[in-house]
Amino acid sequence: MAPRKIIIDTDPGQDDAFAILLALASPEDLEVLGICAVAGNVPLALTQRNSRIVCELAGRREVRVFAGCEAPLKRKLVTAEYVHGKTGLDGPVLAEPTMPLQPGHAVDFIIDTLRREPVGTVTLCPLGPLTNIATAFLKAPDIVGRVQEIVLMGGAYFEVGNVTPTAEFNIYVDPEAAEIVFKSGVPLVVMPLDVTHKALTSRRWIEGLRSMGTEVGRVAADWADFFERFDVSKYGSDGGPLHDPCVIAYLINPDLFTGRRINVEIETRSELTLGMTVADWWGVTGRPANALFMGALDARGFFDLLTERLARL
Ligand code: BDR
Ligand code: CA
Repeated sequence: MAPRKIIIDTDPGQDDAFAILLALASPEDLEVLGICAVAGNVPLALTQRNSRIVCELAGRREVRVFAGCEAPLKRKLVTAEYVHGKTGLDGPVLAEPTMPLQPGHAVDFIIDTLRREPVGTVTLCPLGPLTNIATAFLKAPDIVGRVQEIVLMGGAYFEVGNVTPTAEFNIYVDPEAAEIVFKSGVPLVVMPLDVTHKALTSRRWIEGLRSMGTEVGRVAADWADFFERFDVSKYGSDGGPLHDPCVIAYLINPDLFTGRRINVEIETRSELTLGMTVADWWGVTGRPANALFMGALDARGFFDLLTERLARL
């Protein structure tokens, strides 16, 4: 089968970096048409820089990286340096990237690509706030019906929130954008905290990365070390959750995940629960399903896949 064409929309972030590496290491499964940076974990100037750092680390300087929106649709940007560090990729010492940033805007790249490629052949993979995707849908409604699928990291139900008591970071930062995407009618696969909190790094796994003896292994181990310290101290968990690679792992091996087709709406008005993914897990509303909302993960299979693919780089 031909590799699936994807656009990665991202705000790196160490876990975004793992996701990008996994995608770039999997050419038989995925063709990365481009990477769109969005403001999120850190401001846009850093997320576009970080996207290029990750491509260079993977030895893929030809991958096209675009800068997108620098602020949410209607709100002030909220960032997460307290998780990812000042640069978003804190941990290892990293050189500034030298590969170019593409001249156009990420939103136009998304629109042009969806118009150019055959209908239903391009999957969008958002790993950060949904600002770029929603802006593209608002600017060019004709592209909505051309998207094959959106597989995204965002939201939570049983795990409630990580940035407020009820909201997950990516949805909370731009709830209006999330609402547009969840109401778009595009087939959605959602990786909420319910599943990503099961993708926990372990000391053994991180040391395995380091012992690969490669630059990718060393840098990835340093990222994982830095990234896990936040969750270990906050939740008392054994490691840090690799949220965003769940999106890419699903595209490579969907059998690693199980979930339910349910209705998910986004709260955009309440001060108390802003950005909550109101997930009708028990089917009590009668509202039509709009998402495959994941809940369980084969964690061993997930980490085996990640190890095998990172070892190729
Ligand atoms: C999400 O927020 C970001 O901090 C991570 O990169 C991930 O995309 C988890 O809530
Ligand atoms: Ca992210």
